[in-house]
Amino acid sequence: MEILKIENLSKIYGKGETAVKALDDVSFSVQKGEFVAIIGPSGSGKSTLLHLLGGVDRPTSGKVFVDNTDMYTLNETKLAIFRRRQIGLIYQFYNLIPILTVEENITLPMLLDQHKVDKKQFADITRILGLENRLNHLPNQLSGGQQQRVSIGRALISNPAIMLADEPTGNLDSKNSGDIIDLLKMFNKTYNQTLIVITHDERIALQADRVISIEDGRIAKDEVIRP
Ligand SMILES: Nc1ncnc2c1ncn2[C@@H]1O[C@H](COP(=O)(O)OP(=O)(O)OP(=O)(O)O)[C@@H](O)[C@H]1O
Ligand SMILES: [Mg+2]
Repeated sequence: MEILKIENLSKIYGKGETAVKALDDVSFSVQKGEFVAIIGPSGSGKSTLLHLLGGVDRPTSGKVFVDNTDMYTLNETKLAIFRRRQIGLIYQFYNLIPILTVEENITLPMLLDQHKVDKKQFADITRILGLENRLNHLPNQLSGGQQQRVSIGRALISNPAIMLADEPTGNLDSKNSGDIIDLLKMFNKTYNQTLIVITHDERIALQADRVISIEDGRIAKDEVIRP
């Protein structure tokens, strides 16, 4: 089943002489449960692409379908709600809210939507992430690896259609990097959670089912590693 489809996606930042074509007519699709790694040189357009997949920014042209919803036909309010329910985002620097506890950070997307948190699901996720003894801590009382695990919990709590991560291990040592990738892979394989990860780390890319290489805003290569 096709969970994500991108058609002729382009993004130009700025206007006139200073305009930058960050993404140039990119099309591809992703099946439910796939683990896709996105690689490419600095400035090639990887983060731009992820932001457009995640509804964080609007394309200059082209379409993004997430679970058959043509995302950029939604107005700002509807897009914000759609993003909260269907897209799980993970960043290099965690982006947790410093004055909220671990539990509050994880459940925030549900509370913003006035949805009840499924207690069993919350307990399962926090146990798998090894956070059950840190639920009342604040982010600055946690290690980097623990903070990233909180951001994974926050991304997963709404059962999103796709999970997007931009250099999720870029700020971690190799032990913590390995743990984070193992967790992401576990949710991908056990729960069939579609996962798209930008990485500079070849060891991570080689664990994906498929590797898409971006160069100068275009797809230079799209290789299936594990069918
Ligand atoms: N908000 C912005 N305004 C103007 N130009 C931008 C903006 N964001 C990105 N760019 C430009 O778009 C191009 C692609 O940037 P992008 O951040 O997508 O690259 P990247 O592949 O993620 O790089 P890195 O590996 O360094 O994170 C770059 O030339 C960058 O300078
Ligand atoms: Mg980037």
